[in-house]
Amino acid sequence: SSLDQTLTEQIAALKEERDAVILAHNYQIPAVQEIADRVGDSLELARAAAEFDAGVIVFCGVDFMAETAAILSPEKTVVLPAADACCPMAEMITAGEVRVLRERFPDAAVVAYVNTSAEVKAESDICCTSANAVAAVESLDAEEVIFLPDRNLGRYVARFTEKKILPWDGYCIVHNRMTADKVAAARRSHPDAGVLVHPECRPGVIDLADHVFSTSGMVRHACASPRREFVIGTEVGLLHQLEKKCPGKVFYPLSKQAVCVNMKKTDLAKVLAALERFEPRVTVPEETAARARTAIQRMLDLPR
Ligand code: 13P
Ligand code: SF4
Repeated sequence: SSLDQTLTEQIAALKEERDAVILAHNYQIPAVQEIADRVGDSLELARAAAEFDAGVIVFCGVDFMAETAAILSPEKTVVLPAADACCPMAEMITAGEVRVLRERFPDAAVVAYVNTSAEVKAESDICCTSANAVAAVESLDAEEVIFLPDRNLGRYVARFTEKKILPWDGYCIVHNRMTADKVAAARRSHPDAGVLVHPECRPGVIDLADHVFSTSGMVRHACASPRREFVIGTEVGLLHQLEKKCPGKVFYPLSKQAVCVNMKKTDLAKVLAALERFEPRVTVPEETAARARTAIQRMLDLPR
């Protein structure tokens, strides 16, 4: 629309003036993806936050992603345009609960999915994303690993390691709703399509998929594959990147209802306001940030 066009131009001008970069997760609305300097999965955006040489990061995503950026770059100003954009899964475990687990399983190491609060990361040995969860688990000396908070990702990782995985009982409210029946129905409707799903899906969904990838992993696979059609088992926002990066290919959402409302709270007006006011700002107290940084840095140091 012409309003979007005006906002887009204002954002581009102010971004220069403010020495800001805009990072957007693959689930953001298309208009926001289009104004970003980098669109990616959680791992790519964490790396970008650390590597971009800018004074200000405008993080179009949910709170734990902006927190991770603030932890990695304490000298940068990190703003989250939608102050109330949270990840319900990240709220399914607290730092106190991690400490209780440590007492109950003193020999176990703790792997925290990045979808956690800074306080939970601070209690953990290493972080991971959907793109490197197996590598994070395998990098540890311990034979027992507490994996939190996502039980589905934890069980997925358990398929690839000899270590004993103790998964916490959290889950993503969007991915956990997808069912194996949906995959079977999608295969009947689209017999030539490849089925790509996110590891936050239930084990029964994963069993029926052709491949399991992070959001950006799906984009890379779809572009490189000789196949033309894909069923996509993740949040529907990814379809914008898939269609953009893989022209001529066709993508069907596994579920049209797979919408993360928190990822849709960011719009162009909020991005512009965030650039004008440097608010809502995300900061992490250095005492917590220092411990969380160790866990995140261990993840970033994993071989790529
Ligand atoms: P990715 O790291 O694969 O983009 O996943 C982030 C997320 O929130 C999935 O629901
Ligand atoms: Fe959290 Fe799920 Fe939304 Fe990802 S899709 S941000 S895991 S609620």
